[in-house]
Amino acid sequence: MSVTSNDQSVLRPAYDSILTLAPYQTGKPVEELTREYGVSDVVKLASNENPLGCSPQVTLAITEQLGQLARYPDGNGYYLKQALSDFNDIGMDCITLGNGSNDLLDILARSFVSRDDAIVYSQYGFVIYSMLAKMQGATGIEVPAQRFGHNLSAMRQAVDDNANTKIVFIANPNNPTGTQLDRDELYKFIASMPSSVLIVLDEAYIEYSPESNNRALLDAFDNLVIVRTFSKAYGLAGLRVGYALSSAPVADLLNRIRQPFNVSRIGLAAAAAALEDQQFIETVRQTNQEQMCWLEKQFDALGLGFIRSYANFIMVKMEVEMENAAVINQALLEQGVIVRPLAGYGLDNWLRITVGTAEDNLRLIDTLRSILNDD
Ligand SMILES: Cc1ncc(COP(=O)(O)O)c(C=O)c1O
Repeated sequence: MSVTSNDQSVLRPAYDSILTLAPYQTGKPVEELTREYGVSDVVKLASNENPLGCSPQVTLAITEQLGQLARYPDGNGYYLKQALSDFNDIGMDCITLGNGSNDLLDILARSFVSRDDAIVYSQYGFVIYSMLAKMQGATGIEVPAQRFGHNLSAMRQAVDDNANTKIVFIANPNNPTGTQLDRDELYKFIASMPSSVLIVLDEAYIEYSPESNNRALLDAFDNLVIVRTFSKAYGLAGLRVGYALSSAPVADLLNRIRQPFNVSRIGLAAAAAALEDQQFIETVRQTNQEQMCWLEKQFDALGLGFIRSYANFIMVKMEVEMENAAVINQALLEQGVIVRPLAGYGLDNWLRITVGTAEDNLRLIDTLRSILNDD
């Protein structure tokens, strides 16, 4: 049979749920937009990347590794783990490194969830959680959101209703809604959970909202895992580094499941250098906050509704007169501005917009205004 055959029978051994799995939609790459619409000077506000880049110290750390590329990285990531251990005041044996935090979410699902199990997550929760349930051939239980955020009491009930639940995934702040959970409510939620259910707190945007840092809860709960990333505030999305903090037995299991060299030599060195430069993170946080305030005022002035966000993006409602989010998204693309439509989340009227630099944001608002006023 030729390699171009369309015979689907080879797929028969796959889980049914995998056959129905839609691929993860990444933000449109700048190069693609340039190719499709012939626009140059593209502004990408679609993937919650850091518009300020990364700490200058990262460049030096990467340069130092360039002569060593023929050598495998340290498979245990000793120096990065040591730095993370100091930074988070936790034992090195409680840390697992990942090829981005997505890798860790995947490792968690592969370690704890099999075909007869269930994963609980919220409506409008990060899309990967439902995908992981499908990938494991498990049952994904989506709990209706409350005011666009997690409804913890309903999620607790879902765990009671599904005795086969192995993991509850919670992004805090949540992507794409930007909502944040109350710490006391979260504490009560975790405390009420059977110890056999793993609670995974995805803190990908924690640097933008330090009050969401729930590291302290790890001291109280062995069934809690916190997942973090260097892709957002640290500005290393292109390098793929993330980490999980957990009890030592959970970390031991995750470290058995992960690929032997899942973080590259350059990724390890860059992340350690980035972690050291907390001054940069402070600048990132302040800039994001200032720009978020500015954007909120502009959306108000344009008559666009939005959800208050605790991260580096904001969900904006595009239901204006005859226009809708898909039409506005298309018009933005044609003028070189990439944002994220949310129809895949069932949020047809909304766009998620990453907070850019002052210049990026001005371009976004000017372009939006011209589209809405049709001038
Ligand atoms: C909530 C959340 N978790 C995890 C990730 C994965 O990020 P990465 O794999 O780059 O660390 C993202 C990326 O958008 C995210 O929004």
